[in-house]
Amino acid sequence: MRLRAFEAKDLPELLRLDARCFPPLISYSRAELQYFVRHPRSTTTIAESAGQVAGFCVVDWKLESGRKIGHFITIDVAPELRRNGLGRRLMETGEAKLAAMGCVAITLEVAANNPGAQAFYERLGYHRTGWIPGYYADGTNGLVMRKALDPAD
Ligand SMILES: CC(C)(COP(=O)(O)OP(=O)(O)OC[C@H]1O[C@@H](n2cnc3c(N)ncnc32)[C@H](O)[C@@H]1OP(=O)(O)O)[C@@H](O)C(=O)NCCC(=O)NCCS
Repeated sequence: MRLRAFEAKDLPELLRLDARCFPPLISYSRAELQYFVRHPRSTTTIAESAGQVAGFCVVDWKLESGRKIGHFITIDVAPELRRNGLGRRLMETGEAKLAAMGCVAITLEVAANNPGAQAFYERLGYHRTGWIPGYYADGTNGLVMRKALDPAD
């Protein structure tokens, strides 16, 4: 398994993987995923095994009161490869990139009905800070989670 940067040719494979990772109304359309991976403030990390995309994550950042706050847009690991530490590796890589950009904290949203992902994020040091009613296209609420990178955050 090797981690590498996104290349334009990856988009169709990322779309297929995203459709295997999320229900129809939650998985990204081609236009949505293209927008996120091409955004000038986003960084996409690909996990590749035997020439196939095994997982990926997309991060970006925004300014809050003059401080850079990182954000996980998505993380996807192929169902047959889960619980082997790949999700953790992708998160640690995304976090390291955001830290190198000067982010003091990282936020993300997770579906209220996705306890597996919530447990995953909690294990990695994220804690709940709020929720967004009807955040997802199917009406599911979103939980907001955050992790401090700077101890002063
Ligand atoms: C969430 C996801 C990225 C985790 O990837 P993964 O490669 O299985 O994660 P890891 O193997 O690195 O897990 C690290 C730890 O997180 C916790 N964890 C991961 N998945 C979990 C689950 N389904 N239930 C409970 N705890 C879980 C465990 O503590 C695990 O350590 P362990 O296997 O030694 O017990 C993966 O399940 C996935 O792609 N899900 C579908 C897409 C999704 O929901 N993404 C997040 C949306 S916001």
